[in-house]
Amino acid sequence: MQEPTEPEFQPSQRAQQAAGQPIAALMDQALARPDLISLAAGFVDQASLPVEPTRTAVDALMTDHGSALAALQYGPSDGDRQLRTMLCERLEQTDFDGRTKTISPDRMLITPGSNQLLYLIGDTILDPGDIVLCAAPTYFVFLSILKNLGARAIGIDSDGEGMIPDALLAVLRELQNSGEIERVKAIYLTPYFDNPRGVTMPLQRREAIVTIAQEWSRKRPLYVLADNAYRELRYDSDNVPSLLALDHNQHTVVEIGTFSKSFSPGLRVGWGVLPSALLQPVQSQKGNLDFGSPYFSQRIMAKILELELYDRHIATIRECYQTKRNAMCAALEDVFRGASEIRWQRPHGGLYVWIELPEHLSAGPTGRLLKTTLDEGTFYVPGEYCFPSEGTSPRKNTLRLSFGVQPPEQLYRGVAALGRAVDKCL
Ligand SMILES: Cc1ncc(COP(=O)(O)O)c(C=O)c1O
Repeated sequence: MQEPTEPEFQPSQRAQQAAGQPIAALMDQALARPDLISLAAGFVDQASLPVEPTRTAVDALMTDHGSALAALQYGPSDGDRQLRTMLCERLEQTDFDGRTKTISPDRMLITPGSNQLLYLIGDTILDPGDIVLCAAPTYFVFLSILKNLGARAIGIDSDGEGMIPDALLAVLRELQNSGEIERVKAIYLTPYFDNPRGVTMPLQRREAIVTIAQEWSRKRPLYVLADNAYRELRYDSDNVPSLLALDHNQHTVVEIGTFSKSFSPGLRVGWGVLPSALLQPVQSQKGNLDFGSPYFSQRIMAKILELELYDRHIATIRECYQTKRNAMCAALEDVFRGASEIRWQRPHGGLYVWIELPEHLSAGPTGRLLKTTLDEGTFYVPGEYCFPSEGTSPRKNTLRLSFGVQPPEQLYRGVAALGRAVDKCL
């Protein structure tokens, strides 16, 4: 008898929209060529991962039988109370000088990494065709999330200080004139040492963006999604207050944080402070997804904070990344000395350096430069991945380098390989 043929599977509309993410292509490339010096991945430094602090926290957690049993059980769906309380206290200390008790742990939700929270928020506030205004360039995984949800991402011009408030206003007015303003649900930005440009938004601009969002929130909320993934990776700049601290009525800003870059991505613990109106709907979505993030990881992070091991670790990794940042910048200065048409800005934190090449040189995924760079032994993230499909036109002559993973001497080799590839293509 003939084997019945497998009936053709047609993925859901949503699943089809999830396909073709740049992140998958980049990971495949990295895995296929382990010999390459990757300057692409936004991963953290392997050697400085917090083995000892984590061991201490796990030991403390497991020594007490009651706390061990609790940590191995399901946890509350909105997250561990102690962890939320301590995170809120930290925010109040850094952003509100500890003077006022403004952030209740009830407004905080813990997720397995901040990416899940970005997805959940998108899924909660966006219907297909709804619009998110994103700094251009922006965190490209978030663009994939928006595509997955059938939402539109419109890029807003940004410069060395992040999203430009006047550009944001101009796009809002255009959307009002075209009758689409009702579809605009959020503004997305990474205000600290952003991914991919490495820039930090100064206080005045933060105030301007929050004010604009509040003014355009009269009929329906226009949320500001402030993704602070790199906030703690600060090397030589002042700590600017968060957008949350500037949101006086606390109705507008969604503050999103993670321990992935500042402690361990393997533990997968992220969090968000949400305006009250968003809290219940997002929690309901999360209830259907996983009814609570891995509790063991949360209890470990709570112990880390309780034993005051977190700040000590941050101090160590700041030093480590500062050295790497210096190494990458020194390599760029050396390799591209005299090439005034190649521009980049020294980041004061985070993991990335954004490079602008001459207009006519494409760094795109199908361009000659990427292929030549791979042949030379390194690779990067094509900048065009980081531009939304509407608004600010994609700048194909841009690329993102990361100094998180490679040791300083490899950073130099990687940048030198890029330099040779650029020379060949110019
Ligand atoms: C800007 C930004 N936001 C969010 C994330 C997600 O991180 P996680 O889900 O590990 O917290 C990343 C990861 O690279 C990122 O760069």
